[in-house]
Amino acid sequence: MSKRYAIILAAGQGTRMKSKLYKVLHSVCGKPMVQHVVDQVSKLTIQEIVTIIGHGAEKVQLQLGTSSQYALQEEQLGTAHAVMQAEGILAGKEGVTIVVCGDTPLIKAETMEALFAQHEKQKAKATILTAKIDSPAGYGRIVRNGDGLVEKIVEHKDASDEERKINEINTGTYCFDNQALFAALKSVSNENAQGEYYLPDVIEIIKKQGEIVTAYQTDDFEETIGVNDRIALSEAETIMRKRINQNHMRNGVTIVDPTSTYIEADVQIGQDTILLPGTMIKGNTVIGTDCQIGPNSEIEDCVVGDNTVIRQSVAVKSSIGSKVNIGPFAHIRPQSAIEDEVKIGNFVEIKKTVFGKGSKASHLSYIGDAEVGRDVNIGCGSITVNYDGKNKFLTKIEDEVFIGCNSNLVAPVTIGKGAYVAAGSTITKDVPGEALSIARARQENKENYVHKLHLKK
Ligand code: UD1
Ligand code: CA
Repeated sequence: MSKRYAIILAAGQGTRMKSKLYKVLHSVCGKPMVQHVVDQVSKLTIQEIVTIIGHGAEKVQLQLGTSSQYALQEEQLGTAHAVMQAEGILAGKEGVTIVVCGDTPLIKAETMEALFAQHEKQKAKATILTAKIDSPAGYGRIVRNGDGLVEKIVEHKDASDEERKINEINTGTYCFDNQALFAALKSVSNENAQGEYYLPDVIEIIKKQGEIVTAYQTDDFEETIGVNDRIALSEAETIMRKRINQNHMRNGVTIVDPTSTYIEADVQIGQDTILLPGTMIKGNTVIGTDCQIGPNSEIEDCVVGDNTVIRQSVAVKSSIGSKVNIGPFAHIRPQSAIEDEVKIGNFVEIKKTVFGKGSKASHLSYIGDAEVGRDVNIGCGSITVNYDGKNKFLTKIEDEVFIGCNSNLVAPVTIGKGAYVAAGSTITKDVPGEALSIARARQENKENYVHKLHLKK
């Protein structure tokens, strides 16, 4: 097998997006478009990947990191000019180069592999990935001669009425003999409707040199959608979402209503977990087996164990153990560690807290900046008073503590192992282990008070 290289075009401004955000950084299912492309390209055996970056370069580079080399295209003079910028890195090398647009986030590694295979089998100098579609407006059209062989690609804006009727389009992905590519680029001109140097023009140039040019037609048009505006972005999102959901279902996850379940690209979910409607699972979340998530839950960058239930709740950047029961209507905020067999009930908010194994906060509590031990029971309406308006302080609740309902634990404070806090207490001093602490006004009953009150009248 010859050496393989990849060039990813990501320098265009993306004016049709009407956005401050650089086009290829717009996300599809939580991952920037260009990252989808690089991830798929990286599944192939490729010696060198070069991404062409322009305006907004640092941000693209920050996103892709060391998975690619970079070439800067200072002015966006067209796709051929963009490829030219890789000359310093790739020109002169022997092998096959695949060119992919950073705005085709749905392209799959298998399809690129098939493109390479056809290119190599046909001993071609150029092979275009094409697709037949019902509404080809906007795309470059594949012009074939009487024998059905590819002659050239004509851009929509330059096409005659007759050519516009062609429904086989250029998907913007190609394989080239690397040396033939860089040689042909030198002959591309910008005399066309957009005054740009078009990469598709190298097809006609190579063909006219008497070399073999072929096309590989994919039957999955959806995969090759180029995202130029927000309508196409939403279409890509719908297709990608369906693809992600189906992958999880094939792997043994039940998704009760895939149309209302949103799982981002890098999420992992274990077998026999059930996702109920209205659920969003985002970022680098990993969910174990036999869990039940939803309805209406949002989980972002969390690690969740096995057999855990999360109903109508939000959890962000936290770890949640096994056999945990969360919700309905709970909020797990960042940097929390919810250990196994915990119960977090309705209207409970947890922030930056370790919540120990078997502990419970079943109703209406705020636990922030706390270390809660094992088998602790936090009564309804109890809170950690962690903030004095300026600084945050730690509350330590040791193992087997019982916090009575409606207590305030004014931090910094420690409740020792096995201690009891009486309901309605405002605790401002440490409580020793095994102690009972009552910190509230004593109750006084005024006998017959009501009668005295009436006599006065
Ligand atoms: C391009 C093709 C068209 C094809 C379509 C498929 C050309 C001239 N046309 O059209 O035949 O049907 O893709 O989606 O190539 N870019 C740069 N530098 C530039 C210009 C563009 O890096 O100077 C990058 C863009 O960031 C983008 C890609 O190249 O990722 C394609 O550019 P775009 O302007 O979207 O081309 P299309 O008009 O969609
Ligand atoms: Ca495009």
